[in-house]
Amino acid sequence: VTRALPDTAVVDAPAKLNAFLRVLGRRDDGYHDLESLVLRLDLADRLEVHAHAGGARFRTLSFALDVTGEPAVTAGVPVDEDNLVLRAAKVLADHRGIRGFADISLHKLIPAAAGLGGGSADAAAVLVALDRLWGCGLSPAELLDLAASVGSDVPALLSGDPVVVGGRGERVAPVTVADLGWVLVTFDFGVRTPDAFAWWDEDGGPTGPDPRTALLEAEASTRDDHRGNLGSFAAALFNDLAGPVIRRHHRVGEVQDRLRVAGAAASVMCGSGPTVAGLLPPDVPRLDRAAEEDLLELSGRGCRYVRSLSGRPERMPEDRPGD
Ligand code: C5P
Repeated sequence: VTRALPDTAVVDAPAKLNAFLRVLGRRDDGYHDLESLVLRLDLADRLEVHAHAGGARFRTLSFALDVTGEPAVTAGVPVDEDNLVLRAAKVLADHRGIRGFADISLHKLIPAAAGLGGGSADAAAVLVALDRLWGCGLSPAELLDLAASVGSDVPALLSGDPVVVGGRGERVAPVTVADLGWVLVTFDFGVRTPDAFAWWDEDGGPTGPDPRTALLEAEASTRDDHRGNLGSFAAALFNDLAGPVIRRHHRVGEVQDRLRVAGAAASVMCGSGPTVAGLLPPDVPRLDRAAEEDLLELSGRGCRYVRSLSGRPERMPEDRPGD
């Protein structure tokens, strides 16, 4: 987070990848209990938030949002109060009885409805930025509560640390995982999160292995013998929503298989899909051209190379007015 003008914050909102995602079961409230390892990626949306609150100057609350980016990325991203950015701003304003304004420019790089948590990342970034610009001073627990009320993926994206999430997403515990290289294959269609969970229900809900092994392997991959451990971490990746999505969108399964043949140590669907991530061994920084072309043909969008990052994103530096 860097500070530009007074009352303005420029914030990165990084995408996420679920290295494993276990669906434990449907709850009475319609949500599903999960266990998932969420990794932050070096692919991020960028928000510029201009905001002010309080004092005698403001008698009302107003919001403005504009969304920019390539048409393929912004297609279907709402620009009204359905956008999670405005939902998050409203939740925080209601919580604190804010009067003032927030004027937000969102530059999208994370594909929408792709399973990469783009909208949730934007919401998390806005909560953190407005908490500061409006001077709310929320505790971490309050921020987590508000994040969960905006969306199940938002709490996991507040800190930027790799986290294991529980409950429907509101329980978050930081863990240590090495930086890893991935190839993401995105598709020319999206999957709505409620659909992926409904398909899991319809199909009789397969639940994957206890992810403790996967987590231990992930943590082990941070040690010196990183290379040797990648194989066992790779073997521990899974996503319980993948089967139900692949049964309805066969190309997702084909991409998953093709990635392994092309040299990925493992491949796993991201979140509720359809994006598929291939874990790259350290000696395979990229796939070969022929594999990239096949994947483009299968997916309609093709490959992009990213890293999952172990550290927190940059914290806010000291104020640098006019910077
Ligand atoms: O929390 P959020 O609004 O992002 O969730 C969207 C939908 O995804 C929910 O209404 C629900 O159908 C499904 N979902 C779920 N279990 C979760 C997260 C989301 O069933 N843990």
